[in-house]
Amino acid sequence: MKAKIIGTGSYLPERILTNQDLEKMVETDDEWIVSRTGMKERRIARPDEYTSDMGAAAARAALDDAGITADEIDFILVATITPDYLCPSSSCLIQTALGAKRAAAMDVQAACTGYIYALAIAKSFVETGLCKNVLLIASEKLSSVVDYTDRSTCILFGDGASACVVSSAEGKKGYAISSICLASDGEQSSLITIPTGGCRTQAQQYVKMAGNEVFKHAVRRMESACRDCLSLAQLNETDISWLIPHQANIRIIDAMAKRFEHLPPERVFKTVHKYGNTSASSVGIALDELLKQEKIQHGEHILLTAFGGGLTWGAAILTSSGESI
Ligand code: UT7
Repeated sequence: MKAKIIGTGSYLPERILTNQDLEKMVETDDEWIVSRTGMKERRIARPDEYTSDMGAAAARAALDDAGITADEIDFILVATITPDYLCPSSSCLIQTALGAKRAAAMDVQAACTGYIYALAIAKSFVETGLCKNVLLIASEKLSSVVDYTDRSTCILFGDGASACVVSSAEGKKGYAISSICLASDGEQSSLITIPTGGCRTQAQQYVKMAGNEVFKHAVRRMESACRDCLSLAQLNETDISWLIPHQANIRIIDAMAKRFEHLPPERVFKTVHKYGNTSASSVGIALDELLKQEKIQHGEHILLTAFGGGLTWGAAILTSSGESI
């Protein structure tokens, strides 16, 4: 039995932070931001709106889409680097918010690769028979760790959440998780940091990034994850209908996509211009938008890939299925 995604959802806060707004906050300009990142705007959560609130909203949308109720969920996984607290986990807060009384709950920390890592855990839980329905949520309130006086990072990040239901349910339309590849490199851990909250540091809450170095790793690592995943699934790049990369920067997306010469550029799905980099949530938000806006036929493959702090990276292939698998 193959685990499959039977529903997706996402949530973006209402407030839009435009490049013009950022021009008033730091020494930058719209032209620089668009040409270097592809970003025009991003969303910012309300002061009283937290990671678990956004995650619960995305989760409700995914449950609706899947046609199941909260009490049918066996496990809640929340991928985030901006949890409400170190303890309790955001997954437990969301469990209560949804009334998912039967569900076990835990957070997953793999930075911007969190959605793919959580997908691997969900797939294993379902395929080993431990769970029937896993609710996967990625949610980030990155505005809480962004230094809005640092122009090298504050233009990049946005808030948002995504969710999906990974299930063994027979007879439902869904997207089988055909293959997944995960990787990490702790030797490069200093390239992206949020040096707070752990036992080593206190009160240095802002994200710091060696942008140039990270850029090169991102292109190379996402390409290699995609290639590994394709070979694991015994597929070629020509078999892929859509590529959904982590939405870190339009230039990273384009540079990476160019390495797949048989994949038409219009098949690379992008949300970076309107939401910026939403870390763990980004791939899931894009997936939800793609599935709501395009008709995916039985047997089509969607390739997801992400990269982030750790360093961590990974890829997953989803295969559309109109019938039980
Ligand atoms: O999601 C996790 C993974 N994250 C990523 O993959 C992000 C990877 N990195 C990037 O996307 C890019 O490296 C950035 C967008 C962060 C930076 O773009 P870049 O083309 O690598 O620019 P740079 O860091 O080489 O900076 C070029 C110049 C510098 O000025 P000098 O030193 O050449 O005089 C910066 O100070 O641009 C300057 N600069 C800015 N200028 C206007 C940096 N930020 C800004 C800004 N506005 N916001």
